[in-house]
Amino acid sequence: CLSLKIHFRQNKEYLTFFFSSFSEKLLVLTVATEETDGFLRFMRSADYFNYTVKVLGMGEVWKGGDVGRSIGGGQKVRLLKNAMEALADQEDLVVLSVDSYDLIFAGGPEEILRKFQQANHKVLFAAEGLVWPDKQLADKYPLVRTGKRYLNSGGIIGYAPYINRIVSQWNLHDNDDDQLFYTKIYLDPLQRESLNMTLDHKCQIFQNLNGAVDEVLLKFGTDRVRVRNTAYDSLPVVVHGNGNTKMYLNYLANYVPNAWNYEHGCSHCDDDVVDFSQLKEYPNVLVGVFIEQPTPFLPEFFQRLLTLDYPKDKLKLFVHNNEVYHEKHIQRFWEENKNVLNSFKVVGPEENLSQGEARNMAMDLCRQDATCDYYFSIDSDVMLTNRQTLKLLIEQNRKIIGPLVTRHGKLWSNFWGALSLDGYYARSEDYVDIVQRKRVGVWNIPYMAHVYLVKGSALRNELKERNYFVLEKLDPDMALCRNARDMTSHREKDSPSPESFHMLRPPKGVFMYITNRHEFGRLISTANYNISHYNNDLWQIFENPVDWKEKYIHSNYTRIFTDNYLEQPCPDVFWFAVFSEKACDELVEEMEHYGSWSGGKHQDKRIAGGYETVPTDDIHMKQIGFEKEWLHFIREFISPVTLKVFSGYYTKGYALMNFVVKYTPERQAYLRPHHDSSTFTINIALNNKGIDFQGGGCRFHRYNCSIESPRKGWSFMHPGRLTHLHEGLPTTGGTRYIAVSFIDP
Ligand SMILES: *[C@@H]1O[C@H](CO)[C@@H](O)[C@H](O)[C@H]1NC(C)=O
Ligand SMILES: *[C@@H]1O[C@H](CO)[C@@H](O)[C@H](O)[C@H]1NC(C)=O
Ligand SMILES: *[C@@H]1O[C@H](CO)[C@@H](O)[C@H](O)[C@H]1NC(C)=O
Ligand SMILES: *[C@@H]1O[C@H](CO)[C@@H](O)[C@H](O)[C@H]1NC(C)=O
Ligand SMILES: *[C@@H]1O[C@H](CO)[C@@H](O)[C@H](O)[C@H]1NC(C)=O
Ligand SMILES: *[C@@H]1O[C@H](CO)[C@@H](O)[C@H](O)[C@H]1NC(C)=O
Repeated sequence: CLSLKIHFRQNKEYLTFFFSSFSEKLLVLTVATEETDGFLRFMRSADYFNYTVKVLGMGEVWKGGDVGRSIGGGQKVRLLKNAMEALADQEDLVVLSVDSYDLIFAGGPEEILRKFQQANHKVLFAAEGLVWPDKQLADKYPLVRTGKRYLNSGGIIGYAPYINRIVSQWNLHDNDDDQLFYTKIYLDPLQRESLNMTLDHKCQIFQNLNGAVDEVLLKFGTDRVRVRNTAYDSLPVVVHGNGNTKMYLNYLANYVPNAWNYEHGCSHCDDDVVDFSQLKEYPNVLVGVFIEQPTPFLPEFFQRLLTLDYPKDKLKLFVHNNEVYHEKHIQRFWEENKNVLNSFKVVGPEENLSQGEARNMAMDLCRQDATCDYYFSIDSDVMLTNRQTLKLLIEQNRKIIGPLVTRHGKLWSNFWGALSLDGYYARSEDYVDIVQRKRVGVWNIPYMAHVYLVKGSALRNELKERNYFVLEKLDPDMALCRNARDMTSHREKDSPSPESFHMLRPPKGVFMYITNRHEFGRLISTANYNISHYNNDLWQIFENPVDWKEKYIHSNYTRIFTDNYLEQPCPDVFWFAVFSEKACDELVEEMEHYGSWSGGKHQDKRIAGGYETVPTDDIHMKQIGFEKEWLHFIREFISPVTLKVFSGYYTKGYALMNFVVKYTPERQAYLRPHHDSSTFTINIALNNKGIDFQGGGCRFHRYNCSIESPRKGWSFMHPGRLTHLHEGLPTTGGTRYIAVSFIDP
């Protein structure tokens, strides 16, 4: 009979009829005035186990006070009292009265009934280790040898007539305290005996998490995940995130009872998804972009935003730019795209808006515009590599959801898996698995930053109070805590840094999710971004190696190793693609910006000895502060090619002479035949023959072999001494640039 499912909206008459015809039966009563995310989660767990649930008070105004902070909850007893009147004579009916906003089922009705029979009492209350709300009553409680001593009214189970006899005593106000009411009845020895009441001291049925977080663990089974109480070795059926443990319940409920397990993965991820093929048109999205500090690769950031697979006329863009440095990038983007997007608003540094103000302003723009379906907030350090990101988030159909983004090669991400009970950062047991996508799903989490999507409807309802949605710098307490050494190192390893990012905290009653069902992108590092150069991203090879490679390394470079994508135009002269167009252009710009070309003189103070026999008109990498980065480039991208073409030779990747040469008929047009002081030399063409210059090329005398059509971004690699006497052929027009290194001198 218990497998028959009755939806919570069905009426009492039907329930009465239904229960009169069976012997073993359990009715769950709960009070909920709103269908909060927590309530829907409760119902999902109840439906999963086929509980019969009756919801009391739906649609009523909640008058029971702010339960959890102060006393209150009398409204719950009043509603229960009314409901019990009709059930008072159902002697075989077992009633389970539970909270629902912060509670889930971990087991089914049969198990509860069995455990209730074993307890051998008519009424059983949940127990906890803390006395509430009146500490002075502590001594009046019967002593227990092991187990929780005090009553918690979040869970009550008992025979209907007995429950009725308890709640019928209620004659207080809606904002009076329900727990105090039950406590007084329970502590009265006569009533305790006559109503045959006890507490579930060892969490056989009820697990209150307050004060007991350290006692519980997840226990993974093949179909279900349970909570195990390790103090009493019990498997509680009702798990209640009372007090300050809502976030911990959210964590447990990411698994329990069947939300995620190792065998099946995520079981609710595809529930209630938005089907784009059924939509008449795409939803309108306001994209809020926040540039709060100098950020490398900003043009690429905008490019990725623009290449999201989403109709551009459905996107409105709001940009808060706090950096004068980035005004040129935004200007360029605006000029190219002002007519592509539905609208484009920039709040620049001259407005002197704080980060928090700017974020609230953007959110308000969506909130106050009834046609705004979604608000998508993204910080400039988020590189979305998945073009489907926006659609995938919308499909997931949550009020607040973010895509997981992580720092390349690090455990650093845009969310926190847990908070300690005092609200500080804590690493959840599953944090690493989620970041590394060993556990894939949609996760209810306590804090997130950098990138997230919020439903416009939620902004106009649950989140309608202006700035209620907390977007603040961490409070002074947290800042203080950050100074503690252990916390700092913890954060640096695996969490967004609180001082530089505003984090999002879920407002009351709204769950906040992060999805790692797909790869979405990465967080770049904005630390150590020196903007005193001309093209500052060139210097990012250490801090943001992945983005550096994408921007500056030729897209066919890796094919050298996979399909032998390289040529040998002369004996032992290898020719391969290494630099992107951007790398070539920016390096030339950087040199011209610096401007102090050597003039090709023999006297050269820059080198040991001060004399150059075969001088070029050049600028050394060292002169623009690029030596370290350049040598790293050689080790990362040239050494592997060396190993491939000169097998058995392991280069140290060391070079003293690294420079860009400028050939032009007006200054120096060619270089006479010479050897290089290197084991091998690389020579990268930085511009295009026929477009930027005429003539040019390189001739190797021993083999009577010339290469007269250098390709932009391609490098020669040839032995430096003995065999490869060579010369630079005359540039007859325009200006030719090459980058040269004498490697392993
Ligand atoms: C709930 O009822 C359905 C339909 O009768 C049944 O298939 C399912 O196994 C039941 N669930 C549990 C957990 O017993
Ligand atoms: C409570 O009720 C059970 C039966 O449900 C009975 O066996 C037990 O003796 C009663 N206990 C007290 C203290 O009355
Ligand atoms: C910008 O705002 C800050 C803080 O509100 C204030 O101290 C500062 O003087 C303002 N600067 C300008 C240029 O208005
Ligand atoms: C930034 O680069 C400039 C120019 O190379 C240099 O003088 C300066 O020391 C650098 N600043 C930092 C903080 O590294
Ligand atoms: C990479 O190689 C392919 C095939 O040879 C070519 O079509 C493409 O243009 C190359 N890419 C670049 C950036 O040169
Ligand atoms: C060098 O090659 C050119 C054409 O490739 C040829 O005309 C010339 O005779 C060669 N010189 C020698 C010394 O072999």
